[in-house]
Amino acid sequence: MYTALILFILAGSIICLGGIYYKRSIVLGILVPGAMLLIIIAFLSTAVLPYMEKIPATDKGVPYSERALLGRQIYVREGCWYCHTQQVRPIRTDAGLGNVSQPGDYQYDYPHVLGTERTGPDLSHLGGKYEDDWHRNHLMNPRPKTPEEEGMAGKVKGSVMPPFSYLSREETEALVTYLQSLR
Ligand code: HEC
Repeated sequence: MYTALILFILAGSIICLGGIYYKRSIVLGILVPGAMLLIIIAFLSTAVLPYMEKIPATDKGVPYSERALLGRQIYVREGCWYCHTQQVRPIRTDAGLGNVSQPGDYQYDYPHVLGTERTGPDLSHLGGKYEDDWHRNHLMNPRPKTPEEEGMAGKVKGSVMPPFSYLSREETEALVTYLQSLR
């Protein structure tokens, strides 16, 4: 990225200097350097400065244990994030979901699983809400867990969350550890 910028500046400078000294051309002497300056300012302000900005640490932004990290990979692999978000926005719709998300919450997250759609509930602060056993049962068979009237999925009887009973015991345990680490 930086090499490209340096090459861009060098090439531009050569063209401009050439233009100014040999042709006395306004286009090369003023417009080209002006356009370049704009591109450089845009690049600095949208890429370099945000990259250098120090993101304040938050209580939620802590490293995952090895097992939680494995669980996180399964969360990504199984596409849990198609239906679940992990972001609490400062808007009325998200009131009651817990602390509003901060950039620092995600500093150990890669890839990010903020999600875009809430077919199921937001899981940002899920840890500690249920016992581990609740999660094991729920992942094995989510359907009977939700009575008709409570279902997030409208009038469907039970949950529309698919069962993840095909996961190995080890995978399920890792996933539960990850879910419990979301605080
Ligand atoms: C097709 C969409 C869908 C997918 C995919 C999905 N879920 Fe769900 N999930 C739901 C819905 C709907 C609910 C609410 C009803 C219920 O509790 O089952 C839910 C509820 C939950 C809950 C309970 C949340 C709470 O606060 O009560 C947890 C935990 C959960 N899902 C974890 C997962 C995990 C882990 C995965 C991936 C392995 C996953 N879900 C994949 C739709 C989905």
